[in-house]
Amino acid sequence: MKEHSIYTLGIETSCDDTAASILLNNKVLSNVISSQDIHRLYGGVVPELASREHQKLITPIVNEAIIKSGINKNQINSVAFTRGPGLLGSLLVGTSFAKSLSIGLDVPLIEINHMQAHILSIFIESDQKPPNFPFLALTVSGGHTQLVIVKDYFQMEEIGRTLDDAAGEAFDKSGKVIGLDYPSGPIIDKLSKKGDPHAFKFTKPKVEGLNFSFSGLKTGFMNFIKKESLANEDFIKNRLNDICASIQNTIIDILIEKIVSAVEITQIKDIVICGGVSANSMLRKKIISLGRDNKWKVYFPEIHYSTDNAAMIAVAGYLKYKESITSDLSCSANARYKI
Ligand code: KG4
Ligand code: ZN
Repeated sequence: MKEHSIYTLGIETSCDDTAASILLNNKVLSNVISSQDIHRLYGGVVPELASREHQKLITPIVNEAIIKSGINKNQINSVAFTRGPGLLGSLLVGTSFAKSLSIGLDVPLIEINHMQAHILSIFIESDQKPPNFPFLALTVSGGHTQLVIVKDYFQMEEIGRTLDDAAGEAFDKSGKVIGLDYPSGPIIDKLSKKGDPHAFKFTKPKVEGLNFSFSGLKTGFMNFIKKESLANEDFIKNRLNDICASIQNTIIDILIEKIVSAVEITQIKDIVICGGVSANSMLRKKIISLGRDNKWKVYFPEIHYSTDNAAMIAVAGYLKYKESITSDLSCSANARYKI
């Protein structure tokens, strides 16, 4: 098979999105995703329900991805799947499905680390030129907050991570306190546009080095809302935009401070920001302006490849396939798979 026509199927089932994608080399032919709305009822992902939903959705989603790509399933050169990290019951569905399909199609099976895939999504074909190695990557999502030095496609070193909640969780849990729907990140982002980011001050955590912590901020925010609402029961309603803008500003400042330190320590000035929270408009604005002032090159994968998706799994699979890195059928889902 010539290098210019490698077809990769990517399968993602690490959390609450069932997703499948077909790539021709690094170009996306199809990218199908079914977000499990059932979790909204519970204000967060319920692991048992997530795996049951994956079980229902995996066959139709993979089928749809193949049909939408316009290729025949026999043209697929490899099956890439998320081995971890994530929810074990969810990962098991994708892992078993990918194994069976690779046997059925008689093509290599390729395990992918979900966190590596978030970063490698920057290599999906797009209008922007990809970064050169080494670069820094900040992955900020509902499940993870991680700073990484990317030395090569599959040579990554974690230099910072959250010690408790993820940045997306900080958004979602704060939103819950003020009665917003799940996931609250995008809602807070929208409401903040009409608010004053300096209306209220929240204490930022003091964490040494490049690690993050958000649980203290969450507790402080909860106590603040309780106290103000006791004094005025309409506090949330009257000041919603200012509350959102202020908590958002604090979360984003925490992220920005660590990026600045990471650049200082590593002297690497190419930075990729990925994961669901990278869609945040204030984060984008602040980091782009800092980049301009400090001669950093800042890269964002396109938004639909930034949140959980299977095109990022497929592109990582394509890059492994080119280097002949494949997995055998004994590989199993790994909920705590390290980068
Ligand atoms: O990467 P993702 O789709 O899924 C994983 O968690 O892996 O990220 C989802 C997270 C949620 O916590 C959501 O609230 C947050 O990303 N998010 C945002 C925005 N869009 C999504 N947070 C802040 N501002 C946004 N615009
Ligand atoms: Zn993710």
